[in-house]
Amino acid sequence: MTDDHSAPPERQDGDSPMTDLEQCILFNRDLLHIHEVERQRIAKDLHDVVGQALLTVKLELNMMFLQHPDIADRQGIAALREDLTGAMHKAIRSVRDMTYALRPPDLDQLGLPLALSALCTDYTERCGFETDYLSAGLDRIHLGFEVETNLYRLAQEALRNVEKHAMATRVMVRLVASHPNVILHVADNGRGFEVARMLAASKSEKGLGLWGMRQRAKLLGGEVRVNSTPGTGTSMVVKIPYGGGGNCNDVAHTSR
Ligand SMILES: Nc1ncnc2c1ncn2[C@@H]1O[C@H](COP(=O)(O)OP(=O)(O)O)[C@@H](O)[C@H]1O
Ligand SMILES: [Mg+2]
Repeated sequence: MTDDHSAPPERQDGDSPMTDLEQCILFNRDLLHIHEVERQRIAKDLHDVVGQALLTVKLELNMMFLQHPDIADRQGIAALREDLTGAMHKAIRSVRDMTYALRPPDLDQLGLPLALSALCTDYTERCGFETDYLSAGLDRIHLGFEVETNLYRLAQEALRNVEKHAMATRVMVRLVASHPNVILHVADNGRGFEVARMLAASKSEKGLGLWGMRQRAKLLGGEVRVNSTPGTGTSMVVKIPYGGGGNCNDVAHTSR
């Protein structure tokens, strides 16, 4: 142990101090992790505290009107009751949507393969394109919080892009563990685009986008490859190392 705070940290193998680039990658990875843990905490508080409080108020209101029909019959009260019920409904729904957007509960409760299955179903219901989803080799593998979360975020952004830009009718999503990597493949039959040009533009905007997706994968020692030609659809392959053994039990469905 040392008190010298300016000394660069050592690698875990203890061989040599880290380079600036390695430290920077580690720092960004830590930031991403802190960000996700914070989202998870806020989502839990929103659901457990705000969501439950709203639900209680809604139930108590209903109970009050049921137990006091004399009040419910008074002039103007019926309209007020309707307004209040509508407002409570809206508030409960937006808390649920915000919770889901911050951290989908499926990811913590069911794990990545089933969370992605639910995400595909959700896209099919909302956007109308067919999703063909299959996951393989993941049931005895523990990917860990970081890899699971980032793969989910990458799939989310890929599907968001299909929704926003592709005009596709069909999307194929595959999640496969192939030691030592886990591979996410999203391919659509939409209008495609010029990858190199868009990547350059995406970098200058610094959103999550294509550029952010590649950075996210890089931080985990992985990569994103995008293949697309205008008119022929788009295929995106994410490869992230997880460092474990696998087997072959599958989760599959087609949503229409
Ligand atoms: N699946 C896709 N199909 C067609 N075009 C796409 C697809 N994904 C990305 N693009 C194109 O690449 C551009 C950059 O994508 P992105 O970096 O995610 O930024 P954004 O989605 O905010 O526009 C998009 O504006 C779109 O023109
Ligand atoms: Mg995008």
